[in-house]
Amino acid sequence: MRWLALGTAVLGVFIWRSGRVARHSILTKSAFPLGYYASGDFATSCSPIAPADDPAFNDLKYCEDETFWDVWNGQGSLQTRHLILSCDANRKAWNTVMGPLRDPEPRGSLWLNTLTSKEGQEDATPVRMVFQNYPEGHDFHPLGLEISPSHAGNTSNLFVVNHARQRTTIEHFSVDPSNPTIALYLRTLSTPYFVSPNSIALTSPTSFYVTNDHFFTRRLAWVGKFLPITESILALPLGWVAHVALIPNPLDPSGEPIFSHTVAALGIPFANGIALSPDGSTVAVASTTLGEVYFYQREPKDNTIKRIDSVPVPFTPDNIAFDDSGVLIVTGHPHFPSIVSVAANKTEVAPSWTVAVVPRSSSVLRSEYDTQAPISASLKAPAVMSYEVETLFQSNGTGFSTSSTALRDARSGRLYLTGLYAENGAIVCRPS
Ligand SMILES: *[C@@H]1O[C@H](CO)[C@@H](O)[C@H](O)[C@H]1NC(C)=O
Ligand SMILES: *[C@@H]1O[C@H](CO)[C@@H](O)[C@H](O)[C@H]1NC(C)=O
Ligand SMILES: *[C@@H]1O[C@H](CO)[C@@H](O)[C@H](O)[C@H]1NC(C)=O
Repeated sequence: MRWLALGTAVLGVFIWRSGRVARHSILTKSAFPLGYYASGDFATSCSPIAPADDPAFNDLKYCEDETFWDVWNGQGSLQTRHLILSCDANRKAWNTVMGPLRDPEPRGSLWLNTLTSKEGQEDATPVRMVFQNYPEGHDFHPLGLEISPSHAGNTSNLFVVNHARQRTTIEHFSVDPSNPTIALYLRTLSTPYFVSPNSIALTSPTSFYVTNDHFFTRRLAWVGKFLPITESILALPLGWVAHVALIPNPLDPSGEPIFSHTVAALGIPFANGIALSPDGSTVAVASTTLGEVYFYQREPKDNTIKRIDSVPVPFTPDNIAFDDSGVLIVTGHPHFPSIVSVAANKTEVAPSWTVAVVPRSSSVLRSEYDTQAPISASLKAPAVMSYEVETLFQSNGTGFSTSSTALRDARSGRLYLTGLYAENGAIVCRPS
């Protein structure tokens, strides 16, 4: 793992030298608090989503992504909102993004948590989803996932990025809202164009954007040991966004669909999280190595996208999600060396940070902003005219480690965080 240390050092030098991200000092460990939650008191407002010492939840840990699953009734109102999490208790032995590649055998898991919308009421206890018809001997190492909403009882399509042993694929499942913990396997999407899929944003029940984080992957035998890290270090713009659609075969409508793949945007250094705004007009993509979020204008007719903005964030962003009101929630890793050490079993925890990226309401640009946060985003990321960045959550790693995704439910105001290497998998913070 020495190359990782070297890579980290060079990455730091690069980031320090690069004028664009000069203040983005992800190598300096800030004095984060145990836990800070902007809408309440961390100690009393935030708790793990599953009972901590119950062995039934042993596999609910190291959760990379999560998504809301909305079930609408026939009258068009939201009946139930579930949270689905992608976790991989074996991540320390198999991680195609950060290493190592030791043991791909034990499968990761998906968990369903039925949420409440009522203040003062608890969410249900998470349940592990059961797979039906999943091919024997087919690996399962879930990363990004998204599921289409269910309307008037129809089934939903669930797509999950799977870092399987040979290549990364996208698994397609169907889930029936009347039996929500069963994921029926339909097919594996696989193409040479899926070089390094990471995150998914649905554009319909049968189409989605997917990011590819690197062009050179860790799986390439010899070069795999240093090329991906070189690509990250130099922040080479070799990541991209593709649009994928499953189109019914006109000659055989009930058979296997035709699978179309179009490149939507090229040249994004370590393209990681991706999200579609609730109105469908905007796509956001996290560039992990640049420490920025790119905003694209979307043409819904053909799913082409055009870059219109980029916003610096105070950490290396991982996953992103729009909340119900269209505010982008960005989560990531404020101290890169720590998460590398956690992946290598050298330390237990690494810090966490979540921000909201809100369209700027005032025309005054202050260099000091985010003044409520223990460590202000303004210390690390310059303010921009288009959007304001505001801290929602922060932790030195002891309160919550390695945050990778946060979702906010507008009905309850609750914030759900997953942690890539969090032993307790995910926490919920309730506004007080
Ligand atoms: C986080 O802060 C708490 C309280 O100051 C401290 O006890 C804990 O050791 C810190 N954790 C890390 C990883 O620095
Ligand atoms: C479910 O119904 C909605 C509304 O009629 C439709 O838009 C959607 O495509 C359906 N989903 C699936 C997976 O068929
Ligand atoms: C870290 O520890 C886990 C569990 O003990 C092990 O499976 C994994 O291979 C270790 N990873 C490294 C990089 O040493």
